[in-house]
Amino acid sequence: MAREQFGVCAEPNLHSYYLLFNVLDNKNDYVRQTLAKLPQMFVDYQEQFSESNLNTVIAIGAAYWDEFYPQAKPAGLRPFSAMQRDDRIAPANNVDLYIEIRSDRADVNHIVSTRVCEMLNSSVELVEQVKGFRYLDGRDLTGFVDGTENPKGPHKREVALVKSEEQPLFASGSYLHIQRYRHNMELWQTLETKQQEDVYGRTKRDDIEYASADKADTAHTKRANLKDDQGNSLELVRQSMPYGHMKVQGLFFVSYCNNPNNFELILNSMINGDSEGNFDHILKYTQAETGAAFFAPSIDFIENLAP
Ligand code: HEM
Repeated sequence: MAREQFGVCAEPNLHSYYLLFNVLDNKNDYVRQTLAKLPQMFVDYQEQFSESNLNTVIAIGAAYWDEFYPQAKPAGLRPFSAMQRDDRIAPANNVDLYIEIRSDRADVNHIVSTRVCEMLNSSVELVEQVKGFRYLDGRDLTGFVDGTENPKGPHKREVALVKSEEQPLFASGSYLHIQRYRHNMELWQTLETKQQEDVYGRTKRDDIEYASADKADTAHTKRANLKDDQGNSLELVRQSMPYGHMKVQGLFFVSYCNNPNNFELILNSMINGDSEGNFDHILKYTQAETGAAFFAPSIDFIENLAP
């Protein structure tokens, strides 16, 4: 059984560091060999800082995959494609590599991130670096608990990980989508608590889901709760975290899934809405500034990249 990367299904951490890279020309061999060494390097740091609960993910950009591993490709892996409807936008800026470093110590994340950058060194360009943090009891900066309806227990792995009988080479890998959202906190804070709760379809302080009849069709939890033809929920494992400083604040959205479709269908439901035009009202108060799609292979796949 291939081993999944620790960060895909791990419980939330206190701090994160997201690193996004593009690979320079003629550096594919070097990058493959370096990535193959990272899992052991992460294990060494996990042992050295065992109380920090270090969790990591290495993922390969959908647009870069063919160059990175021309022999085979995860089924349906495709670049993030931009969406727009009126002033609601989901831009796409696909990058080659994603490295997620999460732990309960910001200094450990810094040490590990520095080491990753040193090892990749002159083979990549660092395109973006975002530090996330846990806010209160796992809330988004809008004040609402984020992640409550995430799959739990063994079901989490069922939702996030590709099954070996479906794609043996990519077993225990995961399709990853990210979007960096920037919140309009000033506008959000003009709303009364009840109005904010209506936007999500959940209560703020106690994080209780509204009864179905009380949920507006524009509520985030309504637009994000989709079912397939057999009535099964289209689930994701969300590992998003707040980020920001005094001028810019938002959510670094991260989702893992055993297929690339669930994320796209939910995002479409949020932006384009239903047949009556009910779009997700959370999008009045936050806007995506980036978007990219990746595949996070199993640890075994990554370690086998070295010749
Ligand atoms: C639920 C926040 C974007 C998918 C929630 C909840 C919050 C939240 C507070 C309710 C608690 C929970 O179950 O986690 C946000 C914020 C976003 C954002 C602040 C952007 C700034 C997205 C995106 C997707 C998504 C882009 C997927 C494309 C979901 C799903 C649920 C959920 C599947 C569970 C719905 C349910 O079954 O009740 N989100 N979210 N969210 N969100 Fe988001």
